Amino acid sequence: MVEVRPFSRGDREQLSRLVNAHVAAATPGGSVPVASLLASLEHPVGEYVLGPWITDVSTLVAVEDDRVVASAHLRRYTDEDRASDSYRDAGEIVWMACWPGHFDAGGALLDAAVGQLARWQVRVHYADGTLPAPGVYGVSDAWPLVSSLYHEAGFDPSGGQVEIVLAGDLSQVPPPGEPPMAGLVLRRQLGDLATAFNAVLDGEVVGSFEVDDDLTRGGANTAFAGWAEECNHWVREDLRGRGIGTWLVANAGAWLRLGRTSRLMAYVIEDGDAEARTGYYHRFGLSPINRTTRGWRRQPGFPEVRPPSAAPADRGRPGQ
Ligand SMILES: CC(C)(COP(=O)(O)OP(=O)(O)OC[C@H]1O[C@@H](n2cnc3c(N)ncnc32)[C@H](O)[C@@H]1OP(=O)(O)O)[C@@H](O)C(=O)NCCC(=O)NCCS
Repeated sequence: MVEVRPFSRGDREQLSRLVNAHVAAATPGGSVPVASLLASLEHPVGEYVLGPWITDVSTLVAVEDDRVVASAHLRRYTDEDRASDSYRDAGEIVWMACWPGHFDAGGALLDAAVGQLARWQVRVHYADGTLPAPGVYGVSDAWPLVSSLYHEAGFDPSGGQVEIVLAGDLSQVPPPGEPPMAGLVLRRQLGDLATAFNAVLDGEVVGSFEVDDDLTRGGANTAFAGWAEECNHWVREDLRGRGIGTWLVANAGAWLRLGRTSRLMAYVIEDGDAEARTGYYHRFGLSPINRTTRGWRRQPGFPEVRPPSAAPADRGRPGQ
């Protein structure tokens, strides 16, 4: 017998176990402390990007024989102009998690989640797999059950994109050599998100590798000690293929190693150029660790509750 109900504090250890199993399957050695997980379920008051956009949050759990077997976290976004066009008056399942073997409980949980989105009367329903851990967003290919459940509930990822998460050991990044072009100088500067290694030519920034080396978030999550992630990387189009990108990554690598950072994550969008970009990162010892699907959406009006004729045999084909 499955009971779907709002999350309560007494569920926190079981919820943490469920969520961290999903995090660990998507990123090596990854986990989220219970306190950080609980904080992420609250309305992000004071969070400067998302806080003003969000009007409601809800966390649901599916319980079977006293065990939390599935859970989902939902957000409703404001219908006012301060939200972006795509998120204005939207509802989102920010993540859902479900233990394998509990497809029906996962389905009942999603019925309840979609019911909540319907009660919010939002314009569009989104779904994602963004857990509060670096590199864990979209629906990971390590969670085929979540993908099947979203499909079954009418969510469609075809308007979104697939991304490849890469990771590797910084010992593979070569030491920095001389600038690859005359007149090119390196400037390490605070960038929009983190530390930027900029290539400057005649006073103009012509390339950048921006990298965040505090994935512990000020020490809150020690599972990510020693990790860094790329935030942005580009070289001006007419100067590509001359070694500037490699030189920037090599300089960043030396700096990161000095700060006892040992591992790096990067991201590649799976488009026509993905193989070449994955090959580029492979030169620095980074290999794919995760393939994740973003941009699941569903039009309100798709049956809010699955019709009784949906036979269990139709559900849960992996990779659907
Ligand atoms: C990726 C990027 C930063 C690399 O910078 P760069 O200065 O051209 O890199 P380098 O010259 O040091 O090395 C490029 C090497 O990788 C290969 N490479 C990198 N990106 C490539 C691409 N998109 N297509 C084909 N080859 C690519 C080059 O062929 C070259 O190989 P070679 O040395 O054997 O000739 C640059 O191509 C770029 O700005 N691309 C667009 C933005 C982007 O894709 N950013 C990555 C984040 S997803």
